[in-house]
Amino acid sequence: MTVCSNIDTASIDRGTPARASNQNVSLEIDGIPVSVPAGTSIMRAASLAGIQVPKLCATDSLEAFGSCRLCLVEIAGRKGTPASCTTPAENGMKVFTQTDRIAKLRRGVMELYISDHPLDCLTCAANGDCELQDMAGAVGLREVRYGYDGENHLNETKDESNPYFTFDPSKCIVCSRCVRACEEVQGTFALTIDQRGFASHVSAGMNENFLDSECVSCGACVQACPTATLMEKSIIQHGTPERSVITTCAYCGVGCTFEAELQGDRVVRMTPYKDGKANHGHSCVKGRFAWGYATHKDRITTPMIRKSIKDPWREVTWDEAIAYTASEFKRIQQKYGRGSIGGITSSRCTNEETFVMQKMIRAAFGNNNVDTCARVCHSPTGYGLKTTYGTSAGTQDFDSVWDADVIMVIGANPTDAHPVFASRMKRRIREGAKVIVIDPRRIDLVRMPHVEASHHLALQPGTNVAMINAISHTIAEEGLIDEEFVRERCDVEDFDHWREFILRPENSPEAVEKATGVPANEIRAAARLYATAGNAAIYYGLGVTEHSQGSTMVMGMANLAMATGNIGRNGVGVNPLRGQNNVQGSCDMGSFPHEYSGYRHVSDDATRLLFEKDWAVKLDPEPGLRIPNMFDAAHDHSFMGLYVQGEDIAQSDPNTHHVTSALEAMECVVVHDLFLNETAAYAHVFLPGASFLEKNGTFTNAERRIGRVRKAIPPMAKYAEWEVTCMLSKALDYPMHYNHPSEIMDEIARLTPTFAGVSYAKLDELGSVQWPCNEKAPEGTPVMHIGGFVRGKGKFVLTEYVPTEERTGPRFPLLLTTGRILSQYNVGAQTRRTSNNVWHDEDILEIHPHDAENRGIREGDRVALLSRSGDTTMRAHITERVQPGVVYTTFHHPESGANVITTEFSDWATNCPEYKVTAVQVRPTNRQSRWQDDYEELQKLQRIETVAAQ
Ligand code: SF4
Ligand code: SF4
Ligand code: SF4
Ligand code: FES
Repeated sequence: MTVCSNIDTASIDRGTPARASNQNVSLEIDGIPVSVPAGTSIMRAASLAGIQVPKLCATDSLEAFGSCRLCLVEIAGRKGTPASCTTPAENGMKVFTQTDRIAKLRRGVMELYISDHPLDCLTCAANGDCELQDMAGAVGLREVRYGYDGENHLNETKDESNPYFTFDPSKCIVCSRCVRACEEVQGTFALTIDQRGFASHVSAGMNENFLDSECVSCGACVQACPTATLMEKSIIQHGTPERSVITTCAYCGVGCTFEAELQGDRVVRMTPYKDGKANHGHSCVKGRFAWGYATHKDRITTPMIRKSIKDPWREVTWDEAIAYTASEFKRIQQKYGRGSIGGITSSRCTNEETFVMQKMIRAAFGNNNVDTCARVCHSPTGYGLKTTYGTSAGTQDFDSVWDADVIMVIGANPTDAHPVFASRMKRRIREGAKVIVIDPRRIDLVRMPHVEASHHLALQPGTNVAMINAISHTIAEEGLIDEEFVRERCDVEDFDHWREFILRPENSPEAVEKATGVPANEIRAAARLYATAGNAAIYYGLGVTEHSQGSTMVMGMANLAMATGNIGRNGVGVNPLRGQNNVQGSCDMGSFPHEYSGYRHVSDDATRLLFEKDWAVKLDPEPGLRIPNMFDAAHDHSFMGLYVQGEDIAQSDPNTHHVTSALEAMECVVVHDLFLNETAAYAHVFLPGASFLEKNGTFTNAERRIGRVRKAIPPMAKYAEWEVTCMLSKALDYPMHYNHPSEIMDEIARLTPTFAGVSYAKLDELGSVQWPCNEKAPEGTPVMHIGGFVRGKGKFVLTEYVPTEERTGPRFPLLLTTGRILSQYNVGAQTRRTSNNVWHDEDILEIHPHDAENRGIREGDRVALLSRSGDTTMRAHITERVQPGVVYTTFHHPESGANVITTEFSDWATNCPEYKVTAVQVRPTNRQSRWQDDYEELQKLQRIETVAAQ
């Protein structure tokens, strides 16, 4: 007997989803005995036994629907011919999938479909990749008896409005796979089957075109469509792929696995990989469609140098660029001292690249002046979770959300910033989980189709800690603490102090009502829901960390989860939604000035000795400079050389004036990137980088999952970043010897206890693993702190609310907060170079109707946005998504300069900038700001004198 598990191989579509059950049922299909988990469909059971039943409306990513009637079977002792996709397998069944009767019925069904389908298979873009074509063959259809004379759909108009896919209704068989994919997988409900019978058709929105509908271009419907009705434009243009490479998306911290599908060295499609453990075959518009930047004409593929930032760039050979950089760095160190140079690692590069970069800085530069862009996003997560739980990372895997009964989303906007995880979250919410949103802005999760938050605590920016304390106060005061959990798992003395602190009247919901702007009874109701609904999970984003009390807030959430026993099992936890694809990895790899890989302090003698021995070099026991300290030191002329890899600090860091004047003060700024970014305007050396499609390595996503990045095409500029870093290190007299990134991973595993069990062989075998992965957990750790915290006992920390120094007043009466939008990514360097600009081609200021009216601002007006740091202009959008007194914008477009406005205030523990709270004034204007004029001038200086250099 074939005993079949639920394990799928990605390439086989088994027709219906896997079922989990402790009980198996045994049956016989076409004489083959098979045993499957109870609840499994006959179609799936047959597939697991090696028999593929013809199908059209079924696919294993969607619940069965039973509309096409192609999958009919006969069952001994039963009348009729049931659909195998909707009929569950039962003990003792004898099923026949290939009788004459069934064959005739199936041919009849196919004949009807084909009689209303264009017979243009040979010229159709889906030729060879079409399920309708396959099924016609599978059922042996040889002729169609009905002509095209009657009513048909063959002349329907194609919808080409979406930049990435077309909808050709003449090819639609109304199987509703697209509609169900949009509902079940994506959770957007943009599609319906309109009307009935012959007139029934797929409709986007209210019979709109795809672009104007609510469609978010995730591609799930395109993937589900069995015909060429929904089709990628890239496939129409270039044809079907010849080969594929499994890799990881280079955009956000969800870390979706994709098949990069290619013709020769041209990527023609990115298809989400069904076996990807972070995405389970789903994707968002960025990973699925916005990959064109990788081969965009703006890519710089030749190294360049210039003496002064006022000179044009001069193309040079790699040898010259590396030799020049090394000689400049040596000169600067001789003149200003060993600590006068440093580097910034990238959260977009691979773990291996980040590891060798920090190694070069520590070993070849001879100091610890290494920092990473996580400094400006999730450094408080590292600090806060390490202090309370003992590990600088989120506690759960994404799938844990299936077991959550209440989901608390704080300072995050998952449907825009982490869309694939948001789809899973929304599905769980549709199944019954409750949602609490804590955010100044009305994000989609507050209310959208089939999702409505039980509570939206629309707090004033900067009052997170007051809010979390009030929630914890309610829980302590109302006897909702999980005393048993606390006594068993936490440091009781710390807890007792904390309880006394949190019960103080100043932490009550009533006391913070004024500061937060949220009624006390709402806070209390949300607290009760969190504490009593069963499994409660916290998901949070930069709206938590990018505050002057970012670390305090992380610890406040950690306290709350411990106090209610919501840690250490599925469905609970404290989960950072990390921004960049490898921000977790860049932190893990030792990118901070005080820590080696695995978060071990540079002053710890035993750890330092380990690295010194392995790297055969003496290492500095003193922590180096953080990014803001580097800028300050540049103004003091003590920090004069900087190597920035895959990071655009002139756009992404706060208080742009301060950053750019620091860069201007330096004598050698090296930018290593795909494009001449904003920072490159201040650089003396430009080293061309490689996109994720051009190299091997690994990324670590927000759930600590280490996934492979695999080279699909050769590097356009010859070298991957790790190779360039090794060349520079050698020129600085510290050669590193690696033939392949797998050897770097071996070194990481050798030197980092949480990575001890990680190797490329294991990643290839398991697909991905979540650290810690070592002897104790050879296949990784999906959920942390089960049975005990990594630090031993969980530590409660007192989290006193200290209002930010950034205050509103008569000059700056509004609070600006910032965030992301689905179609653009971070500073937009990649997405701005794709058709995603159709959705968002400029940053817009959201302002409440009252605030707009008071200032005479109308929809679409250009407005000046002024703060204590600077001013810029952008167009206004009047909306009630923001509350009165709060304005909001994104930071994807350099011309709008959102960070010219943000201040230098930062988290007390980590220096993470306070991006989320800036006091501003807004007023109508008809001209751009001085800063924008200067920006345009600077862009003109980015000239390249082309010399054939290679
Ligand atoms: S692309 Fe995604 S959001 Fe748009 S209609 Fe298809 S499934 Fe729905
Ligand atoms: S568009 Fe494709 S998936 Fe949707 S109903 Fe038509 S054939 Fe089926
Ligand atoms: S959710 Fe994130 S990782 Fe997944 S496809 Fe979108 S951008 Fe890429
Ligand atoms: S595949 Fe079963 S009814 Fe369509």
